[in-house]
Amino acid sequence: MARDGAERPVALVTGASSGIGAAVAERLARDGFAVVIGARREEQLASVAQRIRDQGGEVLALPLDVRHRASLDAFVAAAEERLGRVDLLVANAGIGGGGRFAEASDEEIVALVETNLLGVVRAARAVLPGMLRRGSGQVIAIASVAGAIPVPGLVLYGATKAAIVNLAAGLRREVGHRGVAVGVVLPGFIATEMTQQQGIPMRLPPPALVAEAVARMWRTRRRLTVVPGYYRLLTALSRVLPGLVDRIARRIEI
Ligand SMILES: NC(=O)c1ccc[n+]([C@@H]2O[C@H](COP(=O)([O-])OP(=O)(O)OC[C@H]3O[C@@H](n4cnc5c(N)ncnc54)[C@H](OP(=O)(O)O)[C@@H]3O)[C@@H](O)[C@H]2O)c1
Repeated sequence: MARDGAERPVALVTGASSGIGAAVAERLARDGFAVVIGARREEQLASVAQRIRDQGGEVLALPLDVRHRASLDAFVAAAEERLGRVDLLVANAGIGGGGRFAEASDEEIVALVETNLLGVVRAARAVLPGMLRRGSGQVIAIASVAGAIPVPGLVLYGATKAAIVNLAAGLRREVGHRGVAVGVVLPGFIATEMTQQQGIPMRLPPPALVAEAVARMWRTRRRLTVVPGYYRLLTALSRVLPGLVDRIARRIEI
């Protein structure tokens, strides 16, 4: 298994043209992975790949649209063909969805579900046969604190992320004993293009914090992590005192 051998382990990162995905890809490359990165904006993706190469990393950049199964299947197949296997999938690609649920258009609803939920489901589905065949591998999905604590303005977004948390837990129980670890990261607000577009009026932590959490999850095979740590109390409270968190969360408006 690549984790123990001399060969570089291979990591796939979806949605690596900016923000958290780019930071994760750079971090994994620094940690010795050969990284395969995918996204729709090919120029941005190429600059991330160049940054990785400049730092001595090994990278393959491929166009990817996670809303299309054929694109995801081709992305995974190309990685397996050119690098021999996939040791780690970081299913990160996602879009934000602000606005009131009652006013969302059908196009917005479909885009959110296809990108944030189906994109992760299909990415995991595409890498699992190879991992199960080899009896080793890891899938890490990027969900959100909004998946644990729904907030006004991010209702459908939060629902797609809650589904991912559930998916990861179920998958872990289904394949964990066959050598494949499954984990999920729940980031709070992070400074990326997504939060910039949402106009979040606070100073936010950098995407490198989430990249660090992913790198740690690879080492520890932990099931779930919430970053930054200050959201952990709130997510725990939402389970034991949902009424109190209701009162806090309904004041937040994205
Ligand atoms: N920033 C936060 O506060 C925060 C908090 C919690 C969770 N998250 C999650 O973190 C992940 C990354 O978001 P970010 O904050 O880093 O925002 P971002 O900078 O906007 O990055 C989103 C990434 O997803 C890619 N993407 C979107 N649609 C795609 C598609 N159909 N096919 C392939 N790639 C696609 C984008 O690439 P292209 O546009 O080039 O395709 C981009 O690389 C998302 O899943 C988001 O929900 C973010």
